[in-house]
Amino acid sequence: MKLSVIGTGYVGLVSGVCFAELGNQVICVDKDSEKIKMLNNLEMPIYEPGLKELVQNNVQESRISFTSDIKEAVASSDVIFIAVGTPPLPNGQADLRFIEAVAASIGKYMNDYKLIVNKSTVPVGTGDFVREIVMKHQAEPVDFDIVSVPEFLREGNAIQDSMNPDRVIIGASSNKAAEIMKKLHEPFNAPVLITDVKSAEMIKYASNAFLATKISFINEIANICEKVGANVKEVAKGMGYDKRIGDKFLNAGIGYGGSCFPKDTTALVEIAASVDYDFKILKSVVDVNKKQRFKVIDSLKQIYDNLDGKKVAVLGLAFKPNTDDLREAPSINIIEELIAKNVHVKAYDPIAMNNATKIIRNTITYSSSVLEAVEGVDAIILVTEWHELIEADWFTIGNLVNKKIIIDGRNVIDSDLVESLGFIYKGIGV
Ligand code: UDX
Repeated sequence: MKLSVIGTGYVGLVSGVCFAELGNQVICVDKDSEKIKMLNNLEMPIYEPGLKELVQNNVQESRISFTSDIKEAVASSDVIFIAVGTPPLPNGQADLRFIEAVAASIGKYMNDYKLIVNKSTVPVGTGDFVREIVMKHQAEPVDFDIVSVPEFLREGNAIQDSMNPDRVIIGASSNKAAEIMKKLHEPFNAPVLITDVKSAEMIKYASNAFLATKISFINEIANICEKVGANVKEVAKGMGYDKRIGDKFLNAGIGYGGSCFPKDTTALVEIAASVDYDFKILKSVVDVNKKQRFKVIDSLKQIYDNLDGKKVAVLGLAFKPNTDDLREAPSINIIEELIAKNVHVKAYDPIAMNNATKIIRNTITYSSSVLEAVEGVDAIILVTEWHELIEADWFTIGNLVNKKIIIDGRNVIDSDLVESLGFIYKGIGV
C-alpha cells in the first residue's frame, strides 16, 4: 500500500519505518525541514534502539522517503496517518492545533479517496473534528474515511512494540475503512479489535490512565510500607502472582514521567470535566505522582537536617532508561528543588546529556561519567534506572565520594552489596 505518515516524532517515525519494513511504500512528512534534512542524511532526530538501522535498510530498499512536501505526499498516498504532537495546554487539555493544520492540508490537497488515520492521542470526538476540517478545506467534495488506530509503543522499546503489538485497535466509521486497516495490520499477527471511532480514542486514554493508576497505587503502598516497616518490593511481588493483578507496572519509585502518562492522565481528567464528570481516582493518581518525585529529597533530609552547600550527584536524567527523552522527567523537578535548597548538583546520564543541557538551565555541573559525577559528593541520588548505573562500580565510587549515601529512586541497586561497602542505602518503601 502507498502510505504517508505526517509527523516524524516517536510515533510517526517508528510506525512509518515499521510499515515500510513490512513492504509498504511510505512517505514520512514533517514541516520541520531540519528534521527532514537529518533523516535524509540518515541521522535520527531521536535516540531509539534499532531505529537507525531499520531506517537505513528501508531507505536502501527505496521503501521509505522523507519530505516536507505535504501536498505531494497526500496526492500520492492511499492511506494518510496523522501522527503529530498533541501537547498539553496550560489547563491540561490536549492542544489540537497541529492536528487541525494537518487535516486542513489533507482536505486541500486530496485528489481522490483517502483513508485518514489518526494515530496521535486525541480527545474523544477528534475523529469528527478532523472530518469537519477536511471537508471545510476541500475544493470539491471527494470521498474519504477517518479511522482511529491508537499507538501503544513505549519509548526505548518502540520498534519491538510496533512490530509485535499486544493488540491492534481499529476505530472505523465504515466497513471499507476497517477492511483496509485490517489488511494493512495483518502481518503483525496481533489480535485486532474493530470498534467505533470514539471507543478507539477512549481505549488509548483508558489504557494509559489505568497503567498510571497502577504506578501511583504501588507508590502509595510504598509510602505506607515505609511507615509500617514493610518492603514494597516483596508486596508487589506477592500481588503480581495474582493473574488478575499481574506483575507489570508495580515498580515503586519516584513515579511516572514521559510524553504520554502525564499528558494523557491530565487530558482525561479534562475530558471527563468537559462532560461534567469528576474523575476522582485519576485526579488522585496525578496528584500522587506529582508529589512522589520529591520522595528522594525527603529521604535526603532525613539524613541531613540542612542541605545548604551540600554536593549531590544526580544519576540518570532521562524520564526512563533507553531514551534521551526528558519530557516530564522527575530529574527536572528534583534538580530544581535541590538548587532551591542551595545544593551543588553534579549530573550524569548515559545518553540524555545533550537534551538535558537544553532543558535543565539551572547552574549544575554536567559530568561525563558516573565516576566524575560522584567525586566528592555528600550523597548520590539515582533517578533513572539505566543498566550502566545499576551495574556501576560501587567499590570505586565508595572511594571517590565524600559521604557514602545512596538514595535509590527506583529500588534497583543491590542494597546488600552497597551496604557491605559501607554505604547508607535508602530506597522507596523498602
Ligand atoms: C507509555 C505506555 O507504556 C505506552 O503504551 C504508551 O503508548 C505511551 O506511554 P512510555 O511513556 O514510553 O510508554 O514509557 P513506559 O515504559 O510505559 O513508562 C512510563 C513511565 O512510568 C516511566 O516514567 C517509568 O519510569 C514509569 N514506571 C513504569 C514506573 O514508575 N513504574 C513501573 O512499574 C512502570
